[in-house]
Amino acid sequence: MDKLLIKGGNPLNGEICISGAKNAALPILASTLLAETPSYISNVPNLQDITTMMSLLGRMGIEFVIDEKLNIEAKSHNIHTFTAPYEMVKTMRASILVLGPLVARFGQAYVSLPGGCAIGARPVNLHIEGLTAMGADINVEGGYITAQAKRLHGATIMMDIVTVTGTENLMMAASLADGVTTLENAAREPEVVDLANCLKSMGAHIEGAGTSTIRIEGVEKLSGTDYSVLPDRIETGTYLVAATMTGGKVKVKNTDANLLDAVLLKLLEAGATITRGNDWIELDMQGRRPRAVNIHTSPYPAFPTDMQAQLTAMNAIAEGVGMLTETVFENRFMHISELQRMGAEIRLEGNTAIINGVERLQAAPVMATDLRASAGLVLASLVAEGETLVDRIYHIDRGYERIEEKLTQLGAEIRRSH
Ligand code: UD1
Repeated sequence: MDKLLIKGGNPLNGEICISGAKNAALPILASTLLAETPSYISNVPNLQDITTMMSLLGRMGIEFVIDEKLNIEAKSHNIHTFTAPYEMVKTMRASILVLGPLVARFGQAYVSLPGGCAIGARPVNLHIEGLTAMGADINVEGGYITAQAKRLHGATIMMDIVTVTGTENLMMAASLADGVTTLENAAREPEVVDLANCLKSMGAHIEGAGTSTIRIEGVEKLSGTDYSVLPDRIETGTYLVAATMTGGKVKVKNTDANLLDAVLLKLLEAGATITRGNDWIELDMQGRRPRAVNIHTSPYPAFPTDMQAQLTAMNAIAEGVGMLTETVFENRFMHISELQRMGAEIRLEGNTAIINGVERLQAAPVMATDLRASAGLVLASLVAEGETLVDRIYHIDRGYERIEEKLTQLGAEIRRSH
């Protein structure tokens, strides 16, 4: 299993390019199931989760042609299999995103239930309830969701909880349903908006994406598109936190500052100077130690849960005490015991972590438990005394493209060992 060896102490300095957003590329790739003619998708990050999604779609009959710049052509005229098997869904929960498109276009889907995962139970009841309201006949048996429908029809769906992939699944399904679907309490994440824009470019009629009410008027068919995925706001935020923690100066390019206002506000509060342009952000910490910040995670536009572990790592070495409350997932504190092994002073009270910043962390062998927890550990290693070994980094490879290359480019001492 691959590991990262990171020697802490270097301030990060320089420029890097941000990749396309994993969480937008995944639903956009799934949406190619809906189109009758080929789609061309660009700015897709080269990540394990993307490979998993492409193998899943490939099994269903989508043919992919990928050029040297990783532009992807997806031909979806010959789909013959409507199954997402357990072996694939268990490695990536986002596989559930094929459910809506399959039942909407082909009237059938057989998709494994994702089951639990490291950060909580993460049920998919809202995906199922929404499709049922649209007329799908759904059975859950033997760990699989079987969905059937002659043609889905429009419905007004009120989602009890804000769910990102749930909103995306239902928006895709509604695009081919008969009549108007209204999604209430919809997720407002930029990745939902990106998917909506992609669907619109395929011929879908969608209004209100980016607000909590999305109205979709179904059409008879969708055709292929040429679409470029938006930049990854979580990758952007992760490198900016790395610069803040190490007292460095980093410019991130090919990104969009408007996607991460909540994160930038916290980094300003921590003492960073931030300059933003059209497609870049520069953060300068001038060698200073960050100040502790209080965080409360919530759906967009509030502070993202996917940046929580990184800010925990920052608070661990910040001046003062930071309170960090996680409200989206019930078990997203797996990185805390690892950070404690590196000398962090963190106390957990329910879903709040109280972090008393220490001057220095010490290197220790630590283990990645999920994607963003791993990012938190890598950031902590960048400021720890000695060489930290981060084990099980396949979690990181699911979501950060060439992380060791990008960090090396910024002056970190990091290498991968097999
Ligand atoms: C997506 C992101 C993930 C991010 C999360 C929250 C992708 C591929 N993944 O995950 O990186 O951390 O949003 O921003 O985009 N819930 C239910 N019933 C449901 C669906 C969800 O109770 O049917 C609950 C979940 O358990 C969780 C909350 O709703 O507590 C939010 O989950 P959700 O937004 O669905 O997360 P994902 O879409 O899986």
